[in-house]
Amino acid sequence: MKAELVDDPGTGAIPAGPVIEADDLRVWYAGPTAPVRAVDGVSFVIRPGEILGLVGESGCGKSTLGRGLLGLLPDGSARDGELRFRGDDMLSLGKKDQYALRGGSLGMIFQEPLTRLNPLMRISDHFAETLRTHEKGISKAEVEERSLEALRVMGIPPTRFRAYPHEFSGGMRQRLMIALALVLRPAFVVADEPTTALDVLVEAQIIRILHDLRQTYETSLLLITHNLGIVAEACDRVAVMYAGRIVEIGPAREVFANPRHSYTRELLRSTISLKTTGLNFIDGAPPDLSDPPPGCHFHPRCPDAMKICATREPVDRELPSGTRVTCWAADVRDEVVTLTETEKAPLPKEIDSADEA
Ligand SMILES: Nc1ncnc2c1ncn2[C@@H]1O[C@H](COP(=O)(O)OP(=O)(O)OP(=O)(O)O)[C@@H](O)[C@H]1O
Ligand code: SF4
Ligand SMILES: [Mg+2]
Repeated sequence: MKAELVDDPGTGAIPAGPVIEADDLRVWYAGPTAPVRAVDGVSFVIRPGEILGLVGESGCGKSTLGRGLLGLLPDGSARDGELRFRGDDMLSLGKKDQYALRGGSLGMIFQEPLTRLNPLMRISDHFAETLRTHEKGISKAEVEERSLEALRVMGIPPTRFRAYPHEFSGGMRQRLMIALALVLRPAFVVADEPTTALDVLVEAQIIRILHDLRQTYETSLLLITHNLGIVAEACDRVAVMYAGRIVEIGPAREVFANPRHSYTRELLRSTISLKTTGLNFIDGAPPDLSDPPPGCHFHPRCPDAMKICATREPVDRELPSGTRVTCWAADVRDEVVTLTETEKAPLPKEIDSADEA
């Protein structure tokens, strides 16, 4: 059971509620001819202690969304819409205030730990620097106590505290990076493909650690991954992203057992598993985000596409289970819309002819 109040060392007890609330959030990059709309109006919440998985094909905007939530975007990009962290508007914060929040309350775990660790600094110095940057005046004893606790949670023995990064295996380095993010006890962490560079056994170990995090720290996590198995194992809910939009979001078990959006279904079918008898893939490629197709962005590739899909955007709809889906075919199946014969006529496939050309 969750407490009514969340303990925040910086501001005192604050009312529990969503940690992150995004409402029609947009992120775009300046492109050569038109803006690249990498996140194109997404809405969701992340609750305290929750792990939300974010999946979708390469280039659909997952990393941009993760970075956009933390304000870690490069120059030439912009954000719009609404984004709140523990109820506070994030988009009106200046760079300095955003920086103050990052690390302390918001954290990021990257894919390549070695590029983020200084080879000339002992692990103890990495911890000391991280803690002192965000918690001015912290004592030496507390630095050590907090660091050893974070290492313990990550399964790294205290005897390794004064070692150098190169003395660790790849999996241990990634656990170090997670420990460095968590030592600040952030309320929300984005982990962007944290296990992609690791072998499957180490990956499983790290995923288990991430899954257990909420018991030690009340940290909420956005876990970005290509690996749907990880999501099924570690995440409470899953958001499926296509061409800058969240097309389906709901409890991970339910979405996997009963995908409602045609893209979710095709994405699951294209995953290789022991049960897979043939290799399925989704025809075609995701669209150019500076010029996405009208209507449902997935329509040129969708096996269920109807005429309406090419002209009118489907509307986000919440099911009784809490899953939200944005798909005309799902609406027709659930009998919540009545389409004309013309609207529901199958859409001739564009990509077959393009592929053959
Ligand atoms: N710095 C940038 N400047 C311009 N466009 C960018 C920049 N970073 C990403 N993009 C574009 O934004 C879109 C989304 O990219 P993003 O990296 O968020 O996708 P992703 O889902 O994380 O992909 P992957 O699974 O390959 O990591 C892509 O079209 C990409 O080319
Ligand atoms: S809205 Fe239409 S094109 Fe888009 S996924 Fe659903 S059925 Fe396919
Ligand atoms: Mg990415």
